[in-house]
Amino acid sequence: MIAFILFTVSAVLPLLLYLRNPYIYRDLMYTVASLKIGVKLSKYAKQKPLYSILDCFLDKVAKQPNKKFIVFEDSSFTYSQADKESNRVARALSSHAQLKEGDTVALFLGNEPHFVWVWLALAKLGCTASLLNYNIRSKSLLHCFSCCDAKVLVAGTDLQGAVEEVLPALKQQGVRVFILSDVCDVDGIESFSDKIKQASDQPLSPQLRANVHFKSPALYIYTSGTTGLPKAAVINHERLWLATYLQSIAGVHSNDIIYIYLPLYHSAGFLMGLCGAIEKGITIVLKRKFSASQFWNDCRKYNVTVIQYIGEIMRYLCNTPKKDNDKDHKVRLALGNGIRADTWADFLQRFGDIRICECYGATEGNIGFVNYVGKVGAIGREHFLHKMGCPYALIRYDTEKEEPVKDSRGFCIEVPRGETGLLVAKIGKRTPFSGYAKNQQQTEKKKLSDVFVKGDLYFNSGDLLRIDEEGFVFFQDRIGDTFRWKGENVATTEVSDLLVMVDCVEEANVYGVKVPGHEGRIGMAALKLKENMDFDGKAAYQHVKQYLPSYARPRFIRIQNALELTGTFKQLKKTLAEEGFDPAAIKDPLFYLEDNNSYVPMTQETFNAISEGRTRL
Ligand SMILES: *[C@@H]1O[C@H](CO)[C@@H](O)[C@H](O)[C@H]1NC(C)=O
Ligand SMILES: *[C@@H]1O[C@H](CO)[C@@H](O)[C@H](O)[C@H]1NC(C)=O
Repeated sequence: MIAFILFTVSAVLPLLLYLRNPYIYRDLMYTVASLKIGVKLSKYAKQKPLYSILDCFLDKVAKQPNKKFIVFEDSSFTYSQADKESNRVARALSSHAQLKEGDTVALFLGNEPHFVWVWLALAKLGCTASLLNYNIRSKSLLHCFSCCDAKVLVAGTDLQGAVEEVLPALKQQGVRVFILSDVCDVDGIESFSDKIKQASDQPLSPQLRANVHFKSPALYIYTSGTTGLPKAAVINHERLWLATYLQSIAGVHSNDIIYIYLPLYHSAGFLMGLCGAIEKGITIVLKRKFSASQFWNDCRKYNVTVIQYIGEIMRYLCNTPKKDNDKDHKVRLALGNGIRADTWADFLQRFGDIRICECYGATEGNIGFVNYVGKVGAIGREHFLHKMGCPYALIRYDTEKEEPVKDSRGFCIEVPRGETGLLVAKIGKRTPFSGYAKNQQQTEKKKLSDVFVKGDLYFNSGDLLRIDEEGFVFFQDRIGDTFRWKGENVATTEVSDLLVMVDCVEEANVYGVKVPGHEGRIGMAALKLKENMDFDGKAAYQHVKQYLPSYARPRFIRIQNALELTGTFKQLKKTLAEEGFDPAAIKDPLFYLEDNNSYVPMTQETFNAISEGRTRL
């Protein structure tokens, strides 16, 4: 009898559980990992002085001084060397820029070790780092710089030209500008590498950062949010720790080697990649830029075991010519977001048994999902602990009116399982929304109140999701005035504000259109021209090229006699986006941005080549 009971418990019960939920093992692992993280975080929240990611780094330096921390091109730096390098930078910044606790410094740097040294140095001084996107220029650059009240700008040598463009305005604001070179003869820009070399590498006193606490801003990371110019999302130490633990959830081990090529100015590269790697104490292979042809060679050369991705990158990798050694590498885990189901399957078949851990979350958001079971196509999985910790809901959304549907009492309606709805997440003590620096208006726009009861407050993700019967979460679309292309969010108003500066353009309506075989949406603009003027494709191209990073440039232009408005006088985007860019279906004149040249009339052949994947966008 006892044997029978034991048999039942030990063999049949797991089987029954498994039949009811084939993911039970992974669900349990996730439960354990989440609980561990929860315990750590609540410990950190109470700890005084603060235990920050910098302290975690210093612990690793003490524990494993000679382990490689960063491998970059032909050089490598141990944890101890990185610590010393950042001590020098901190001392140089402190004596030449008179930085003190609480100041903000903007970093305008590509992916290189100095990015990491400068950030660590700032953390040692108790300062906040503002991570500027190195693709932005002129008006956008100045805007981003000023929204975080930075007093100092540290720039890479390759970006000196972009800095010089905005130098007069920076001088006017009394900003100190340092460039990472030994000499600089431009008035208003100071050389910095020489000053770093002269500084001592002795440790800095923790007293310098004694007042930093859990809720102090650690970083500003820029996002396009929903409208207008980029906004600085405030990342405090609590938020930073949360993002850092994604590597643990995904199953990264302390002997892994991670390949970081995504830009360090975004949260994927910086928080999930760099900070996550510090928390695990692992080696980072840092790459200046993604290269499809060098990707696997790098992985082989440096024994990389973990890679990060965005969907586009996975597709580029699948599109490279097949090679005999495609499966010859040590990569076992890929961590990222936005991979399409078909690319996912292709990728595994082509490059072997790699666990793909797809995640979802916004830099400024208070909610995220992780697809920790590796279900193809899903961005995450519902989990009761997660839902308890951060209550969220999918609510019914009217895409025509661009607003949530309300019931007779004026409250939002949760969609039934399996239906698409707008993701909203409750703002609370444990799930705060820090908002955007110096932008109360945009911060308020991301909040929804009186959602289910009077007085409640939710974060509006702007994303339409679907959750299936098994609890898998699927991304459907993004609403509002942004679209996502090549892993970057593009705010439509920023682009249309620029287009109306072209001589012949009177009004512009910018939106994203889907392209077969591509993730996200590519930029398109409907234009109303000034009276008696023709569309000047060359001039428009020159203008767009000068002011917009390549991912934000409208690839297609549609000329209309009048731009349609919605009932509430908003520009109509949905119908235009659905109509796309097929010259056979659209009577209006269409133009196409030919690579590095001009806007030229769109032909059926161009359309076919794009649809069939012969022309890559
Ligand atoms: C990669 O691993 C191999 C075998 O484990 C080892 O011989 C080689 O030195 C490693 N390469 C690097 C760059 O660490
Ligand atoms: C366009 O220019 C960029 C750099 O400005 C370059 O990387 C790219 O290869 C060029 N494309 C073509 C088709 O010439």
